Amino acid sequence: MRLEDRVAVVTGGSSGIGRAIALRFADEGARVVVGDVVREPREGGETTEALLGERGAHVEADVSRAEDVERLVAAAVERYGRLDVMVCNAGIAGRYSKSLLETTDEDWDAIMSVNLRGVFLCCRRAIREMVEQEPIGEARGRVIIISSQHGMIGPPGHLAYAVSKGGLVNLTHQLAVDYARRGVLVNAVAPGKILTGSPEQQNPEALAYSRARTPFPRLGRPEDVAGAALFLASDDSGYVSGVNLLVDGGWMAY
Ligand SMILES: NC(=O)c1ccc[n+]([C@@H]2O[C@H](COP(=O)([O-])OP(=O)(O)OC[C@H]3O[C@@H](n4cnc5c(N)ncnc54)[C@H](O)[C@@H]3O)[C@@H](O)[C@H]2O)c1
Repeated sequence: MRLEDRVAVVTGGSSGIGRAIALRFADEGARVVVGDVVREPREGGETTEALLGERGAHVEADVSRAEDVERLVAAAVERYGRLDVMVCNAGIAGRYSKSLLETTDEDWDAIMSVNLRGVFLCCRRAIREMVEQEPIGEARGRVIIISSQHGMIGPPGHLAYAVSKGGLVNLTHQLAVDYARRGVLVNAVAPGKILTGSPEQQNPEALAYSRARTPFPRLGRPEDVAGAALFLASDDSGYVSGVNLLVDGGWMAY
């Protein structure tokens, strides 16, 4: 098992990509604490908490609130003794993501508070913990930020989301540079179009656009992203830092 005796926190782990990461990490031997504002998965089915069982826990936490992030990381450390992997996955887009002239101040602030401030708060709290703990092998800790291919281009009509995800790519570079000497590896995973939520929640036009943009003959699954996150969480990636790993079926190569 590739994450035996490792402790991970996964934000937004009740649904979709975060849920797949939490469950994959647990299957590989990790103890996983999920931080989310809800328990029920958007796509339906059993909660991540129930599926984790003895292998983890759920902490109700809104990543845009520093006190919640403090509680989340403290819970992992108190329960399991350390924090090896911080996965900053919680993010929103949906109804707040529009083109410039339609974007209200509230839309902008809603996206930035979760997608950018939330990741900043989680990284700061996690890395504060990591730099003080004993290394396992050469690494004191690993941070995995879920960015997006939309942070690397100008996706039509998605201003605030694209800007927030572009900021995460920069944050990844900055933290990788600033904390490598203290044993913290920081990377991002940039998913292409991944099918999350229930089929009724999909927008047919957006799906058609994604299918046309994706060279691979299917759209992504949460498990595709979980596999990449597992690589970045494990000792197999011991000399990888500062990358933004695309998991997009070739979208960005198009
Ligand atoms: N699905 C895709 O096609 C896709 C593509 C690129 C990037 N991403 C990114 O991947 C991440 C996960 O996306 P998903 O499709 O699985 O989303 P999702 O909506 O299915 O799940 C997101 C989870 O995050 C939680 N969440 C939302 N706001 C939160 C907050 N303030 N604090 C804590 N938890 C919060 C939600 O409750 C939910 O459980 C996001 O950062 C998203 O931007 C997704």
